[in-house]
Amino acid sequence: MWRKKQHMDHFFKKAKINGYRARSAFKLIEIQKKYALINANDNILDLGCAPGSWLQVSKQYTKGWIGGIDLKCIEPISGTYFKQCDFLKSDISEILQMPKIDVLLSDMSPNTSGYTEIDHQSSINLLLAVYSFAIKYDIHKFVSKILDGPSLKNNLQSFINYETKIFKPQSSKTVSKEIYVIAKKI
Ligand SMILES: C[S@@+](CC[C@H](N)C(=O)[O-])C[C@H]1O[C@@H](n2cnc3c(N)ncnc32)[C@H](O)[C@@H]1O
Repeated sequence: MWRKKQHMDHFFKKAKINGYRARSAFKLIEIQKKYALINANDNILDLGCAPGSWLQVSKQYTKGWIGGIDLKCIEPISGTYFKQCDFLKSDISEILQMPKIDVLLSDMSPNTSGYTEIDHQSSINLLLAVYSFAIKYDIHKFVSKILDGPSLKNNLQSFINYETKIFKPQSSKTVSKEIYVIAKKI
């Protein structure tokens, strides 16, 4: 328990010191360091972006267009576009008038029920929606959070045209089931 608290404090403090809105910033930084997904002029769409730390981190890596959506409102971040809406229910391309997206980021979390299997399935549903969106808009790279569980492997095998990897950042709490799917078009 003490160890867990210390871990949280470390990234929480580090986020404060670096001016990030959330400790999750370090998850994207770790992903970028390992997989170099974001190139200097890439356009990025961030799904479930509130409070905005992935938008902040994205700005460090690209001069391209950066947009985000979330169910919740966020304080504006200069040089980025934001729309409050539900990814599962809205036509985002219309709303954001987005250009061709190079990297799709999703840190969306489902509403958790406390039942591991149900929560796993809800996060699989989000992952499948992210994948469909990537296919529809011919997006070459995407990252999607998932709560790990038994049906992940089978679902990833059905992702034709994408090579996928699983990554658990050190900044992600060890007690959490969250992991990240990193997908690149083959
Ligand atoms: C862990 S937070 C994201 C943190 C963010 N990456 C950051 O670094 O600031 C997950 C977000 O996903 C959003 N979310 C969950 N389902 C969503 C949906 N269907 N459409 C849009 N946003 C959603 C939640 O409102 C929540 O703000």
